Amino acid sequence: MTKFIGILTSGGDSPGLNAAIRGVGKAALNCYDMNIIGFRDGFRGMMENRTMRLDSGELSDILTRGGTILGTSRDKPHRMPVGGKLLDMTEVIVGNYHDNHLDALVCLGGGGTQKNALRLKEKGLNVITLPKTIDNDVALTDITFGFDTALGIATDAIDRLHSTAHSHHRIIVVEIMGHRAGWLALGAGIAGGADVILIPEIPYEVEAIAEAIRERSRRGKSFSIVAVAEGALSRQEHKAQQAELAKTDKRKTKSAAKKKVAEPAATDCVEADRTLRLAKQLEILTGLESRVTILGHLQRGGIPSAADRLLATRLGTACAEMVNAGNFGVMVAARGDGVEAVTLEDVAGKIKTVPPDHPWVRSARAVGTSLGD
Ligand code: F6P
Repeated sequence: MTKFIGILTSGGDSPGLNAAIRGVGKAALNCYDMNIIGFRDGFRGMMENRTMRLDSGELSDILTRGGTILGTSRDKPHRMPVGGKLLDMTEVIVGNYHDNHLDALVCLGGGGTQKNALRLKEKGLNVITLPKTIDNDVALTDITFGFDTALGIATDAIDRLHSTAHSHHRIIVVEIMGHRAGWLALGAGIAGGADVILIPEIPYEVEAIAEAIRERSRRGKSFSIVAVAEGALSRQEHKAQQAELAKTDKRKTKSAAKKKVAEPAATDCVEADRTLRLAKQLEILTGLESRVTILGHLQRGGIPSAADRLLATRLGTACAEMVNAGNFGVMVAARGDGVEAVTLEDVAGKIKTVPPDHPWVRSARAVGTSLGD
């Protein structure tokens, strides 16, 4: 009996998404005689029933393409912006699943997508997910596709920023994506030889950073590269954030949000301001000129790395195999050279942050990198 698969990409775009779509689709068509349709723009397109055929023609020549041929959105089934309000459109999505006679829905996404997929599982849909994000912060998978490509882009940027830093005897502060977890800033900071690496998991003291930079100057290194994750906070900011979180009544916030469309993500400006302010503070404290580079969405752009294409293809083909075996309600996690089906209940709502004593942190400290603490 031919099975019908629906597939969607949700959340931030990421290198490797098209490789993953190709892996799922080619295996479904070639090995399991399945039919596959794509929903456009994540859960929004599934709510609006906007689909595209995915046959061998559509699945060709996409392995090396960045972004997602399906389009994506950050819209959630249970809080969908409709007519200026956030409405629960889950039942419409469930209805479109059945109206398209689907046997399975494959969702490619990050932490938020895992949660949304679990909600659909609880509504009785056969869902299966793949872990995608350049942040590498999805729990219970060794790695997410997108991370390796972004790591290469950010490392190349740090390499290039060394030129201005040592030529002008400057502090270059480079902001790297990752507002909840510091994997990308930590990995690229180590690979690029940053002198200071600041991540959300290790709140920093500006004075400690300044002293590390002054010490470098004393040793004749009159420049420094500071790699800072979007979400890195000073100890003071971290304390204030914890106090705010403790005080805020999440239920009140959610009910208030239901009445209006989600505010545009103001976090980007807040994060950029924080980085600019840090650079200014370091300039004052060290007497060295400072400049800021915010890598932003460059880290998600362009051709996926070979490692991400390999990972996305492995996970995608394994996903088709699991659909064929009727193994639903799981995320296809990367585990070593293989994969592991992890139940969505264990993944949803969790985030993989950098343990402060992680081997990467120890390596950074061992080569003399300051972590700002
Ligand atoms: O979740 C991946 C990510 O790239 C984060 O690192 C970044 O903070 C965020 O998405 C940016 O979101 P958007 O693309 O919606 O601006």
